[in-house]
Amino acid sequence: MRDWMKMAGIRSSEITDQNLFKRRRQFLQASAAAGVTGAIALPNSAYAETRGEALPEPIVKSPFSTTDELSSHETITTYNNFYELGTDKGDPARYGSRLKTEPWSLTIDGECDNPGVYTLEDILKPHAMEERIYRMRCVEAWSMVIPWNGFALADVIKRMKPNSKAKYVAFETVVQDDLPGVQRNVLEWPYREGLRMDEAMNPLTMLSVGLYGEELLGQSGAPIRLVVPWKYGYKSIKSIVRISFVEEQPDTSWNMSSPREYGFYSNVNPERSHPRWSQAKERRLAGSTSGLSALFTSKTETQFMNGYAEQVASLYDGMDLQTNH
Ligand code: MTE
Repeated sequence: MRDWMKMAGIRSSEITDQNLFKRRRQFLQASAAAGVTGAIALPNSAYAETRGEALPEPIVKSPFSTTDELSSHETITTYNNFYELGTDKGDPARYGSRLKTEPWSLTIDGECDNPGVYTLEDILKPHAMEERIYRMRCVEAWSMVIPWNGFALADVIKRMKPNSKAKYVAFETVVQDDLPGVQRNVLEWPYREGLRMDEAMNPLTMLSVGLYGEELLGQSGAPIRLVVPWKYGYKSIKSIVRISFVEEQPDTSWNMSSPREYGFYSNVNPERSHPRWSQAKERRLAGSTSGLSALFTSKTETQFMNGYAEQVASLYDGMDLQTNH
């Protein structure tokens, strides 16, 4: 049990009871889904962990939430990318429990007045926990609707007091040498991402520590990750250990690995094709559609900026979005 739960006065017995209840409910839902679709995206039945510990209440509902149909907890946590754990869509769930998340600290450095090494609890304590239901669009043309728990990244940035030289925010993921993907060098580690300061300060940009009211599991980027809903999924970096305020545009993992395919901005744009495939449509993995049954689901139109243009398109006024992709 994490310290912030103790501070919130949650007894572990309550959490256990709640988790048992939820696991049973999940099992019933999964059985029902199997009856309908005949396929559940379980890459391996022997998960060490299938649910996280409940987050302390209260969790405030955010006005930024979409009313689109939710993706199931199971689909969200068993079909995704986390290359440090492997390149197969089932690898994050298969190996998620190998990620060591306690203790966890975050280094804040660069152009700011309050640099330092902060514990996770230091970072979380002053912020109210929110639920924000966001559409998420992976560059590989599937999308999900995820009820994230966390708070605005801007609230943490303000506490760190960046100075006038801080034009960008750079992020790094933990490197744990015994993780199966880290051993294979599929990318140059650490996984890196970055945002321009105004993107980082936009109220939609969040730091997430949970989903469906439970702590993040390893596969979803425990214990703390970025969520940027108008950009392709790879911008939403997982398991963050370092946040740096920098003057120059930082290196980002996918841009370093394949610059022609992956730009710095990575805003969802149905009119800018990936060199190897169109981005005009997507398969929505929501309701009873799992990673496997999605293959038989028809595609829907992808929206410009993933449907968040009203809130964020002005950040890119005057920029050519084909070049600045
Ligand atoms: N973060 C790290 N550290 N390593 C990764 O491989 N993959 C990205 C992103 N964050 C990745 C990462 C990609 S490609 C996507 S689509 C999302 O995580 C998918 O995970 P999610 O559905 O759990 O958000």
